[in-house]
Amino acid sequence: MPFRLSYHDLAARATGEVPRDKLARAVERLSAAYREGRAVDTHATREGRAAYLVHTLGAHACDVRRLVLDELEAEVARDIRVVALGAGPGTEALALAEAWATLSARDGKPPGRTLRVDRVDRVAAWEESFLALRAAFEPMLRELDPGLGEAWAWDTPPLVSCDLARPIPDQILELVAPADVITAANLLSEILPRGTPELPPALTENLKAIAGKAREGAAFIILDRGHAPGVTARIEAAARALGETDPQIHEREVRCACALTKTTKALYARVKLPTTKVEDRPIGNTRTAWTLVRFRGR
Ligand SMILES: C[S@@+](CC[C@H](N)C(=O)[O-])C[C@H]1O[C@@H](n2cnc3c(N)ncnc32)[C@H](O)[C@@H]1O
Repeated sequence: MPFRLSYHDLAARATGEVPRDKLARAVERLSAAYREGRAVDTHATREGRAAYLVHTLGAHACDVRRLVLDELEAEVARDIRVVALGAGPGTEALALAEAWATLSARDGKPPGRTLRVDRVDRVAAWEESFLALRAAFEPMLRELDPGLGEAWAWDTPPLVSCDLARPIPDQILELVAPADVITAANLLSEILPRGTPELPPALTENLKAIAGKAREGAAFIILDRGHAPGVTARIEAAARALGETDPQIHEREVRCACALTKTTKALYARVKLPTTKVEDRPIGNTRTAWTLVRFRGR
């Protein structure tokens, strides 16, 4: 049977140092913040980031990987530079690397020589989480495709810390200028105040500035929780700010089928969530709204 990597296994490995009781409480807090549409103010704490890794990362990474493999293979199956806005723990970097390893195993050769993913987020401490994830992820990727590190490189420069809801510095515009793909995955729903259909004016201006810098042919992919209040309107507003006059918003459902590990089961035996009647477990399904904006040049 071919090797199937599990993001639950990955999250367990990357969060091993966080005491389980604290982690269980942090999962409850994170889940409540999302359920109640409150600001998520826990990404800056070690337990809060660990909770995101065990509770949310798997579903989001599978969602991004499936989206690019199902719908956007041509966008990513070549040498690419990606800038992930609101990358958090580097979900997009992980999902794209898994997509490349999958394509390489399927085709007998990698889609290109270098997959570069730059990460931008308001919370600088996500870098720690990403480094722990990357260290545990590389051996898993090599199980999928031994060519990683030989036939192709996975280049993940240090995270750039930036609040995208305030005027952005030139550094961000310089980063997006040579990019082939820019992503905003599950970012718009988390921009404060949550739950409204509007974007903050500074974010709209930033998107316009990014569109002004992006190279011709580059793609901007927006995806988010389709059922979150105001999200579809925000995606549409963002696409318009990027210059798209007729945004097409697509919807899809994706199930994360990653195997649960003993460690994850033991953790969730201590987690009390009102979301499931039978047993509590990490997020499994995502209903995603997404769109792609193609820059036509200036
Ligand atoms: C739900 S997480 C998404 C992480 C990752 N993209 C994913 O799909 O799993 C939202 C991320 O957006 C970041 N974020 C929220 N508001 C932001 C802002 N104003 N500027 C930059 N990042 C922001 C948060 O720190 C968090 O890491």
